[in-house]
Amino acid sequence: MEINRYKLPQHIAIIMDGNGRWAKQHAIGRIRGHKKGAQAVRAVVRSCREIGIKHLTLFALSTENLGRPKEEVNALMTLLDEYLSKELNELQKQEIRLTTIGNIDNLSANVKDKLIQAKESTADNQRMILTLALSYGGRDEIMFAAKKMIQDINGGQIKLNEIDQDMFGRYLQTSGLPDPDLLIRTSGEYRISNFLLWQMAYTELYFTDVLWPDFKKEDLLKAIASYQQRERRFGLISEQLDQNNEQGGIIRSQD
Ligand code: FPP
Repeated sequence: MEINRYKLPQHIAIIMDGNGRWAKQHAIGRIRGHKKGAQAVRAVVRSCREIGIKHLTLFALSTENLGRPKEEVNALMTLLDEYLSKELNELQKQEIRLTTIGNIDNLSANVKDKLIQAKESTADNQRMILTLALSYGGRDEIMFAAKKMIQDINGGQIKLNEIDQDMFGRYLQTSGLPDPDLLIRTSGEYRISNFLLWQMAYTELYFTDVLWPDFKKEDLLKAIASYQQRERRFGLISEQLDQNNEQGGIIRSQD
């Protein structure tokens, strides 16, 4: 598998799906599937950093996921807790900044505290930004942005006719992040599931049957290679695009 390092997606977003089905296939409990999923998270963060991806956003927990059976939610909290404890050093070493979107008030108190600490201590890292979507829902995010804008209009901080897409984007939790160039969803489901609804207006979508715990660097490279074969027209026609035909800069899966 080869990819061109001059045409990398700047921002990759991933819906990590299939931990439960992976566990079923292996005749083990769902929680062990999530454990294996957490290992795949570690690996994909390292791979993206190695390849030179600038932004990686992972859908780690939706608002709806919090309604799963208590043992499963608790296990997910424990895995997050462990991830933060074990990976913080690595994030620092790799100069990765950790951020979150979603409502972390809904998480267990120790996970919330660890997240706040991890965000603070990695705030100056600039090689890659890793954003975890936790207790996140796209519609809620848009609705809260709209409410905040209305408050600011009523308070006189902004005027109705000043509002444009850039300003609206700054009211979202992803303010400052570029929109995702590539969305990957694993496990053969073809849905967006309330993830980054505003931000994915022009994102290239890539679906794979691989279950999240089995997702490897090779699968990531396949997704990037597929992205690189696409022509992103943003509603224009081919002839209007500034074609970037740079050669070289090939990254192979064994690199
Ligand atoms: C989807 O699989 C996955 C989740 C709901 C949680 C994602 C969590 C992890 C990958 C592990 C912990 C995360 C971090 C950041 C350490 P599913 O349970 O919906 O699978 P199914 O559709 O096959 O049942």
